[in-house]
Amino acid sequence: MKKILVIGSTNTDFVLEVEEMPQVGETVMSKFFHRLPGGKGANQAYACGMLGGRVSFLSAIGGDGLASVVMENMRRADVAISQIRTMVEGSTGIAVICVDGAGNNSIVVAPGANLQCDCEYLKDHREAIDACDILLVQLEVPIEGIFYAITYAHKMGKLVILNPAPCPDAIPDEILRCVDYITPNETELQKLTGCRMEYPDGIREGAESLLRRGAGQVVVTLGGKGAMLCSRGGTACFPAWEVPVKDTTAAGDTFNAALAVGLAEGRRIEEVMDFANAASGIAVSRKGAQTSVPSRAEVENFMNCRGDA
Ligand code: RIB
Repeated sequence: MKKILVIGSTNTDFVLEVEEMPQVGETVMSKFFHRLPGGKGANQAYACGMLGGRVSFLSAIGGDGLASVVMENMRRADVAISQIRTMVEGSTGIAVICVDGAGNNSIVVAPGANLQCDCEYLKDHREAIDACDILLVQLEVPIEGIFYAITYAHKMGKLVILNPAPCPDAIPDEILRCVDYITPNETELQKLTGCRMEYPDGIREGAESLLRRGAGQVVVTLGGKGAMLCSRGGTACFPAWEVPVKDTTAAGDTFNAALAVGLAEGRRIEEVMDFANAASGIAVSRKGAQTSVPSRAEVENFMNCRGDA
């Protein structure tokens, strides 16, 4: 099985469950508060491990002990974390997450030590990139470092997956040309391409514009509608598995991890898309980020049972 390297953020999530999202200037009361392990990078690394991948993780954490639960999760999921940077005087990143009654979330991140997962650190650890087959990255750490990692990984012949979250205003074409799979959600695709938010035609047009600019393949995650794969050979839609939605946090992270694991196993992309939809479907039926990530066995059971239904 191919080796996956995830580079990205580690956060502690402060999760507030609310009936409805507060409007500007409004104060609302939360029914429940939870402190949970999160961060897009950590969620993806943990999910890769839980789904059966061979995975290493580069990230930066503070010396405040806040990352300890995330690190325990990494060990449980067999994620190699020996090269994570600890900023003794720094604070671990935090995310304040509001989840409403319909399972939608809004997130504000204070990056803290994640800002030190930078170009200098990644250059110092480029042997981790040399040692992997697949690089999986998001954009919750300094973008120059991630662009360096993408460019270097591509030059070294690695398969690169870019999850453009949170979404910058633009991604240069020379970076897109180094990316084998870019995986925006609808909102991110709209921000990157200005496409119409209409399914399927507007979404397909947006994805095609990323192909024209150099991306290898585009996978658009579409929440309850599933996901769309757009390549030079054409476009295909993969429906979501029906699940009761509790909390969409880390659904995208779980999807991206499953995509990386499926590709690492050399499976057909159609199979991988179904697998990724199933894994993220289970994640939305549970609360929290890493707390919602299913194991490989859970995804396989889920697919077998639903497939028979
Ligand atoms: O993608 C979900 C994650 O985004 C949360 O865990 C939070 O930490 C933010 O990074």
